Amino acid sequence: MQVASCRWLGATCVRNLARVSSGSVFHCSDGSRCYAHTSPVTNFPKCELTSKRYPVTRGQFSQITGDDINFFVNLLGSHRTITDAAELEGPNTDWLGIVRGSSATLLKPKTTEEVSAILSYCNKRKLAVCPQGGNTGLVGGSVPVFDEIIISTALMNEVESVDTLSGVVTCQSGCVLEALDNHVSQFGLMVPLDLGSKGSCHIGGNVSTNAGGLRLLRYGNLHGSVLGVEAVLASGEIVNCLSVMKKDNTGYDLKHLFIGSEGALGLITKVAINCPSRPQAVNLAFFGLQTFEDVLSIYKDVKSKLGEILSSCEFIDASSLECVEKNLKLKSPISAHPFYMLIETSGSNSTHDEEKLNTFMEEALESGKVTDGTIATEPSRMQNLWNIRERISESLVIEGYVHKYDISLPLPHFYKMVEDMRQHLGTAVIRCCGYGHIGDGNLHLNITSKEFDQELMSRIEPTIFEWTAKVNGSISAEHGIGFKKRNFIHYSKSHSAIALMRQLKSLMDPNGILNPYKVLPDNK
Ligand code: FAD
Ligand code: MLT
Ligand code: ZN
Repeated sequence: MQVASCRWLGATCVRNLARVSSGSVFHCSDGSRCYAHTSPVTNFPKCELTSKRYPVTRGQFSQITGDDINFFVNLLGSHRTITDAAELEGPNTDWLGIVRGSSATLLKPKTTEEVSAILSYCNKRKLAVCPQGGNTGLVGGSVPVFDEIIISTALMNEVESVDTLSGVVTCQSGCVLEALDNHVSQFGLMVPLDLGSKGSCHIGGNVSTNAGGLRLLRYGNLHGSVLGVEAVLASGEIVNCLSVMKKDNTGYDLKHLFIGSEGALGLITKVAINCPSRPQAVNLAFFGLQTFEDVLSIYKDVKSKLGEILSSCEFIDASSLECVEKNLKLKSPISAHPFYMLIETSGSNSTHDEEKLNTFMEEALESGKVTDGTIATEPSRMQNLWNIRERISESLVIEGYVHKYDISLPLPHFYKMVEDMRQHLGTAVIRCCGYGHIGDGNLHLNITSKEFDQELMSRIEPTIFEWTAKVNGSISAEHGIGFKKRNFIHYSKSHSAIALMRQLKSLMDPNGILNPYKVLPDNK
């Protein structure tokens, strides 16, 4: 068995060195599949520095000195104060391999108190920092732009408690999503969030991005599931909002400021999450459809006929499926179609749920809205079908530079956006494809080209954001704003909302040391 080191997390991989077991699929030492390691781009050429590629100016922050390093070594020890350039390569580069910072320091605290001591020191010294979880973010928020100190939550991975009666889990922010889900599964619970990056992303990263994922339509978003947050402000002050109560109307609900603020208002150290019961019966259907009108019609039928057991409704177009087949050699279970849907049901009675889904498929086939389909009930077969959907992002990276857009659109406009962009870009790109969480109105529009090309970029942006704004969509449905979209936020947020965000930022982080150059637009 060949041993490979992790490009993103380097020798410091939180889940140990990844092992190549078959093809480009990586498994960690605990045997589970690791998505951050699955990208075939392990020999990725170093991408251009963000500070060179983009017009961005370093803020008035201090430069790190030997005295600063001594402070961190005294606090954490030298094994948790990383200054080795090779080890910093992964944490400086994002998952897509398209933004790269030049941080010379990565810190690995284990406790809230250590995070507090680090931030208090950095704030006094005016040293900028970049909080980092699993580094699977897709908007350039998780890596430094210049030389910000990376504060990794990799060693903050303790589960503090699981209340089996209420279903509330309290844990540190560095727990890997999949590991946390496995942990609560022994109590018959599940984390109400599931993403293709679950093998690497951290729960703190999930909360900081308000990640959506594959089952949002069933369990809602993290503003609902997260009951409590503990976070450290830029000053080092620890804000304890770690309620485990489902209802708590005592004053302003401050935890919401940290959910989705992408590390710009505080560093999340602990979370309390409401975990639903793990479903006993799960079934998955994979449908082929001829038109997008049929997709919308099936979505409507799914809601009315499978409503109480529906747990996921996903969409894939022909180009996305072709990309997975071509680049990852995955096989579609059905004949080629212009559109595909994955419909998952989760309930407590397998016979009832299976019957319902079978009847649904029969009726859909009879109506002609679905022209081919299959249903999986065994876990391994379901996983194979899910792989086709979950690994699209990985297959796209193989083609070169990925222009990744994550947009909310009213459903009648959902696929028109892909068609219009395809026509607009013509042969200038390798691929313009669409997939996503159709049940949430969330389109992932992806455009691949051989390499980064500024001219192509200016044909895509801001056109794509103007298009979105015209139909009252959102330019970021679930990935966040990060570095890449910060100067386009006005397409989805009013002037007054942005002004209030700026006020909150300066109240909570007066020196602007927390994840600078992210979320808010440049001061013009
Ligand atoms: P990181 O990437 O490390 O960080 C993300 C942001 O949060 C950064 O701004 C960072 O500074 C900040 N941050 C991280 N930890 C903390 C903390 N403790 N306190 C404060 N700020 C912090 N996203 C979805 O929403 N839905 C999906 O379905 C989905 N699928 C994906 C599939 C793949 C294959 C990949 C690679 C990514 C996918 N993503 C998806 C994007 C990404 O996985 C999520 O945004 C995830 O929540 C990021 O978690 P992370 O731990 O990797 O955070
Ligand atoms: C997904 O749903 O697959 C993710 O959000 C990642 C992506 O957009 O590629
Ligand atoms: Zn998604």
